[in-house]
Amino acid sequence: MPLTSPWRADFPGILALEAEGQTYLDSAATAQKPQAVLDALLGYLASGAANVHRAQHLPGERATRAFEATRSKAAQWLNAACAEEIIFTRGSTESLNLLAYGLEHLLQPGEQIVISALEHHANLLPWQQLARRRGLELVILPLDDTGMIDLNQAARLIGPRTRLLAVSQLSNVLGRWQPLSKLLTLARAHGALSVVDGAQGAVHGRHDLQALGCDFYVCSSHKLYGPDGVGLLYGRGEALSQLRHWQFGGEMVLDADYQQARFRPAPLGFEAGTPAVSAVIALGATLDWLNSLDQAALLRHEEALHAELLAGLQARHGVRLLGEPQLALASFGVDGVHNADLAQLLSEQGIAVRAGHHCAMPLMKGLGLSGAIRVSLGLYNDGNDLQRFFSALDSALELLR
Ligand code: ALA
Repeated sequence: MPLTSPWRADFPGILALEAEGQTYLDSAATAQKPQAVLDALLGYLASGAANVHRAQHLPGERATRAFEATRSKAAQWLNAACAEEIIFTRGSTESLNLLAYGLEHLLQPGEQIVISALEHHANLLPWQQLARRRGLELVILPLDDTGMIDLNQAARLIGPRTRLLAVSQLSNVLGRWQPLSKLLTLARAHGALSVVDGAQGAVHGRHDLQALGCDFYVCSSHKLYGPDGVGLLYGRGEALSQLRHWQFGGEMVLDADYQQARFRPAPLGFEAGTPAVSAVIALGATLDWLNSLDQAALLRHEEALHAELLAGLQARHGVRLLGEPQLALASFGVDGVHNADLAQLLSEQGIAVRAGHHCAMPLMKGLGLSGAIRVSLGLYNDGNDLQRFFSALDSALELLR
């Protein structure tokens, strides 16, 4: 009996794609949305859009209430100490850029920013460019063979000159949880700030940020089954108070003159201009929907599906996995086959997977690869999706070899 997903029917997008002959296995790039999210988007837009925090009229008051309710739900979801520790951004990339600008004033030439060898460009380039602007050293933590940051090397490389550690929670290429609590302990021991890129990690399991003890955490709604165009930046109260403002405009200001201005603290001081009101409200519905699921059943389903994916890949001759993925996804190459050719043949058979460098070019270069195929799973995927993928993979490999 193929594995079934009790949540599949809640996703009109996955059913529509299936009817079109498409098997969607690219949820790490973006996830499909449950009906509850579509209802929330339409419900807000069809009942009268309004801007938030600016008006006392009924639609404005209603929109502001729903918008702020999402902040509270996000704070609960991540176990932040309070709603004011959640800033809405456009996504993880914007959150990380915000941090790289907002923390710049704390860093002096010669000091170090530490990241790891597996970072997505979004958690590499903002720090790389900051390092170049300020004359800082960008230190790269190496990985072990499984795809995990090597803790012995980390203990050697994180030191008194380290001012900031920025690492991913779950790699978007290697699908491995990173040893965050040990890394964060090392950073704290040297008085460094810590940033966790939770773009992938936030989707798989609930995370208690107070227990984790990071200073900042970022994630994106669109990977978490919510609308695109909105992301979360969590900051521990004390860490947030060190951030300098970075974008200037409406509603982030306390008082403005022609020559000077004073700005609000977080969160509103970091949400200049009209935010993605409808998307934020629908993110609230996403979190409600996710909260309503049986979390243990969800994890069991994700683990069973992932185990089946790994077993199928490992059973195929010449397929080489990248690292030892634990959950959510697996990336691989095939001996003697170019990933672009394989991706093309999979696409032609209606299999939607991602191919290429996965926005982690230095990692790929380090592995000596020009790219890889990545299969990534959502909670709506089932055993039939995997069977279709494997049968397409076998046909493609037969043609290519
Ligand atoms: N960061 C997303 C991915 O890994 C887009 O595909």
